[in-house]
Amino acid sequence: MKRYQVIKPGGLDKLCITNTEIPEPNAGEVLVRWRASSLNYHDYMVILGHIPSEDGRIPMSDGAGEVVAVGAGVTKWNTGDKVVSLFFPDWLEGKPSLSKTLGVTGDSIDGCAVEYACVNAQALTAMPNNYSFEQAATLPCAALTAWRALIVEGNLQAGDSVLVQGTGGMSMFALQIAKAAGAYVYATSSSEEKMERLKAMGADEVLNYRTDENWGITLAKRSGGIDHVLDIGADATLDHSLNAVAVGGNVTLIGVLGGLTAKLMVPKTFGKQVHMNGIAVGSREMQEKMITAINTNHIVPVIDKSFGFDNLKEAFEHQASGAHFGKIVLNYEK
Ligand SMILES: NC(=O)c1ccc[n+]([C@@H]2O[C@H](COP(=O)([O-])OP(=O)(O)OC[C@H]3O[C@@H](n4cnc5c(N)ncnc54)[C@H](OP(=O)(O)O)[C@@H]3O)[C@@H](O)[C@H]2O)c1
Repeated sequence: MKRYQVIKPGGLDKLCITNTEIPEPNAGEVLVRWRASSLNYHDYMVILGHIPSEDGRIPMSDGAGEVVAVGAGVTKWNTGDKVVSLFFPDWLEGKPSLSKTLGVTGDSIDGCAVEYACVNAQALTAMPNNYSFEQAATLPCAALTAWRALIVEGNLQAGDSVLVQGTGGMSMFALQIAKAAGAYVYATSSSEEKMERLKAMGADEVLNYRTDENWGITLAKRSGGIDHVLDIGADATLDHSLNAVAVGGNVTLIGVLGGLTAKLMVPKTFGKQVHMNGIAVGSREMQEKMITAINTNHIVPVIDKSFGFDNLKEAFEHQASGAHFGKIVLNYEK
């Protein structure tokens, strides 16, 4: 079977396909045949070596596939069951803790860029009904982060306002989840063409963050203050997010697309009594509830482009170009 490995010190050219034997599941494990994965900025950082990982690490946090063998003592899954990976395989429920979040799929432990893997039977959820493997593979990182920011931490209510930034995978899920919950959604992009697509997806108001250098203030004037702001850009976006947020609103710190640090005008935080909350993906319990909501609301992921297993490097080059709208996936059957 084929697998990807990241050879130190990392870089797209250090990503190589190697062959190995299909493993056999131990007690408590299932053998999963991964059929698809999806790309996240976090995976890219692991591959580039910006997030240190072991030499030879199998990358990619996201996987969807089917159970092909069941180890001793496993009652939760049967062969043929369709399953999705967990970003944090040890964070099953409750609040996060160090021990629950040390293991990260495709980072501190091997990930899903492999045709077959033995996985702890606890560290999977069922796929949504009627989803393809490609669609299901978009969920574990991007969708769960959007779900947690808005529903779990944000306690989003119908009629609340939401700001999603850019048209990457996480933000597109946030738009869809917010609309399904009855929110009024503001969305930003650097592209007029993508802004039209945002409107077609149900965004109530759109704004070009490249052509309006005071876009946070513009949004505050238009909205009177936005209840939930999902910040993806750190230094590129945080001050705008604080300008846009409502008094008493939420700014969820999610991404670092504009750098690892950000200047913060501290009085804006207490002046507006803002809840600022950094989050990292979520637990199995959250993923299960999100999948229940996906089944009920028939949310369908926005997939920009699908690449074959052998084309992971090209897939990341496409992501790095910023041309995409929504998720980029890797289909192992191509
Ligand atoms: N904390 C967590 O648990 C968590 C989970 C998932 C993702 N993240 C983070 O969230 C961020 C987005 O992730 P993703 O997977 O959705 O990324 P992605 O799919 O690569 O999104 C990239 C898009 O974001 C927009 N963008 C890029 N730079 C920007 C900037 N400086 N200001 C505003 N928008 C900008 C662009 O949209 P336009 O082309 O429309 O302008 C770009 O196409 C990343 O930093 C990622 O690491 C964090």
